[in-house]
Amino acid sequence: MSLRLIANWKLNGSKEFNQKWFRDFFKSYKVDDLSFLGIAPPSIYINHLIQLTSDHNIAIGSQNIDIFSSGARTGEISSSMVSDMSAEFTLIGHSERREFFNESDDEIASKINEANKSSLIPVLCIGESDQENLNNQTHSVLQAQINKGLKGCETINSLIIAYEPIWAIGSGKTPKSNEINSIHQMIKDVVQSSFPKVSLKAVLYGGSVNSENAASFFSEDAVDGALIGGASLNGEEFALIANIYKDLKS
Ligand code: PGA
Repeated sequence: MSLRLIANWKLNGSKEFNQKWFRDFFKSYKVDDLSFLGIAPPSIYINHLIQLTSDHNIAIGSQNIDIFSSGARTGEISSSMVSDMSAEFTLIGHSERREFFNESDDEIASKINEANKSSLIPVLCIGESDQENLNNQTHSVLQAQINKGLKGCETINSLIIAYEPIWAIGSGKTPKSNEINSIHQMIKDVVQSSFPKVSLKAVLYGGSVNSENAASFFSEDAVDGALIGGASLNGEEFALIANIYKDLKS
C-alpha cells in the first residue's frame, strides 16, 4: 500500500455518517484505484470502517495510540490493538494532541516506536505555529520536531511525515505551494541525512486542503499527498480531491 491521501475525521462520525460518507464518496470518485487512500476515524469506529471498506482497498488508521502496548492505562488504546483490528496506520503527534493533550516529543518518539513494533505505519505530524512562522523559525522548528520525534528509533520500514503548519489547520490559510515544496524537500533531506535507518515513504501536506486548492499542492514534486481534516468530512469533496490527485500524480 502506498498511502498518499488521508482523511482525518477528528472527533466526528457516527454509524449513519460513516455509511453516508461512502455513498457520497462513490458517487463522485472516478478512478478504480483506492490503494492510496486512508481514513482515520475516531478509534471506536475503526471496526465499523473496516467492515464498510471490506470490498475496497482503503486503509483505515487511528488518530492516536498509547505509549505502551498494555497495562494500567485506563482509556487508552495501544498500537497492537489498532493493528489487531486490521488497521494499517496511525497518526502521531498531531498538533491538536500536542496542544490539547500536552503530548511531548518524548511521548511522540515512544509512539513511533510502538507503531513500528506493531507494523502500523506511523504518520508523524509536524508543523510550526503562526508566531514561529512570522519569526522565520519554520525550518528549525521542523528539524527539532523530526530529531526529537525520531530520537532512539530503530529501523523504521515505512514512515510518513505530514507537514501541517498549525496556523493553516482549519483556518482557510495556507503557505504558497512552492514554499510547501521547499519545506518538504528539507524534511526529506533531514530524514535521509540524520536517520539512515528510517525509510521515509512520503511527505504529505496538511492544512486547509480542499478541492479548490489541491491541484496547486499536488503539482509540486516534493508534495507526495495530503492529510485532510475539514474537507474530508464530506465524502464527495474527498472524492474530488482524490480525482485531482490521480490526475496529477499518476
Ligand atoms: P484541515 O485539518 O484540513 O481542516 O485544515 C487538517 C488536519 O488537522 O489534519
